[in-house]
Amino acid sequence: MADVVRIFDTTLRDGEQAPGCSMNIDEKLRMARQLELLGVDVIEAGFAIASPGDFSSVQAVAEEIKNCSVCSLSRALEKDIDASWQALQKAVNPRIHTFIATSDIHMKYKLKQSPEDVLDQAQRMVRYARNLCGEVEFSAEDAARSRLDFLCEIFEKVIDAGAGYINIPDTVGYTTPDEFYRIVKHIREHVPNIDKAVISVHCHNDLGLAVANTLAAIRAGALQVECTVNGIGERAGNAAMEELVMALKTRKDIYGVETNINTREIYRSSRLLSNVTGVQVQPNKAVVGANAFAHEAGIHQHGVLSHASTYEIMTPESIGLQENRMVLGKHSGKHAFTERIRSLGYSPDEQVITEIFTQFKALADKKKVVEDKDLEALMETRAALVPETYSLDRFVINSGNTISSTASIRLLRGKDAIEDVATGDGPVDASFLAIERIAGETFVLDEYVIHAVTGGQDAQGEVSVKIHKNGTTYKGRGVSTDVVEASILAFLSAVNRYYYEEGRS
Ligand code: KIV
Ligand code: ZN
Repeated sequence: MADVVRIFDTTLRDGEQAPGCSMNIDEKLRMARQLELLGVDVIEAGFAIASPGDFSSVQAVAEEIKNCSVCSLSRALEKDIDASWQALQKAVNPRIHTFIATSDIHMKYKLKQSPEDVLDQAQRMVRYARNLCGEVEFSAEDAARSRLDFLCEIFEKVIDAGAGYINIPDTVGYTTPDEFYRIVKHIREHVPNIDKAVISVHCHNDLGLAVANTLAAIRAGALQVECTVNGIGERAGNAAMEELVMALKTRKDIYGVETNINTREIYRSSRLLSNVTGVQVQPNKAVVGANAFAHEAGIHQHGVLSHASTYEIMTPESIGLQENRMVLGKHSGKHAFTERIRSLGYSPDEQVITEIFTQFKALADKKKVVEDKDLEALMETRAALVPETYSLDRFVINSGNTISSTASIRLLRGKDAIEDVATGDGPVDASFLAIERIAGETFVLDEYVIHAVTGGQDAQGEVSVKIHKNGTTYKGRGVSTDVVEASILAFLSAVNRYYYEEGRS
């Protein structure tokens, strides 16, 4: 029987460290549920000691997820390990992941500790963690730039102390497939007690080699790989889960291993992450990009029509991309609409269905065909909603290339209608200023992203904004076939989130 390579997903920890990818607790929980459906073996839910928010997220994921190990990162310090263990109390399969740097550069300049001290601390902290938790993983940070003899020594010691997983990170994305293969093989052959632990790898993508390096490590004997959905993570990111899993599946003839992943959940996982973070994948992204299964050249189209395998090495269905032949439009009924929403992976209750169906009908009046991405946009905008301190009643814009833009906005706060006017540099700026005047608050706009949900002139615009105030960031999103309205709705939803989280509404 083929070996099973365990998929350790760190989207919620390393992935979340990527700029623009931070998630609140509800978003992390939605992602964790999807990762469970996807079939990952381990979910690294956060770094419990890093912040109260991280702690609560680990705790919430640990409480809810039953079919994966749930893990929390900790430096090799008692207080970090204690925090992780406390957050993991309700997990069915908890894992403490502890790390310390092992490269000369890191030990000298970052830790300012001698190799002997690092060895001792690693061993003591693994033993400490193991006394609390049955499953302990140890990572040698910057392993790919560490001396091999030192790595072997530290791994031998931590395995003795009870580590069941020893992780070899290429923290700075420096290694290459040939070199990494040799590193992993050397460790496998020179750590005397290696049979008592699983070899894991964790590759960063600074040179675009994270997936290739991870695959090389599997050939050298790694049986756990750390990765993230869409490859998000520190700097250039981590090894992309979807690329790794599909490479292992498509080239089983080379790698000879399996994973527990239900590949039909890959596309959904990728879309959910993009929707939750507002960070879209590039169109040519392997496996999940919009063009991954699009054939443009005539000669390719001809080949695919004759037989898909001429130009397709995997099927769109294998990652869960299904082509819906039934078109939804203004004549579609609630039943077909509900079925389609469910097939997209949502399980809304009756009240939400009724709400979204009304929005769908309004949209279908403006747009001939309502596509799956339109439905996703409606569902995601609904999911991002918090109780509304303010809701949009109406707006009027006066704009042009020879005048300053003016926005007149009327918002409702409970039963009160409040109206104000502002001028600004364009209709969006003027609208945001008018909302600030009504709320009597100012915010810093950190990010404003607009994209067309689908193709065509009647496409909906989807706007995501990030604003901050008093050191906290608030996200908002809005969709409409009118991009100014989408912008107003997005800004308003971020402002409402501010009131909600501040408990000020
Ligand atoms: O990149 C890295 O070294 C890490 C470790 C903490 C595993 O993320
Ligand atoms: Zn990392």
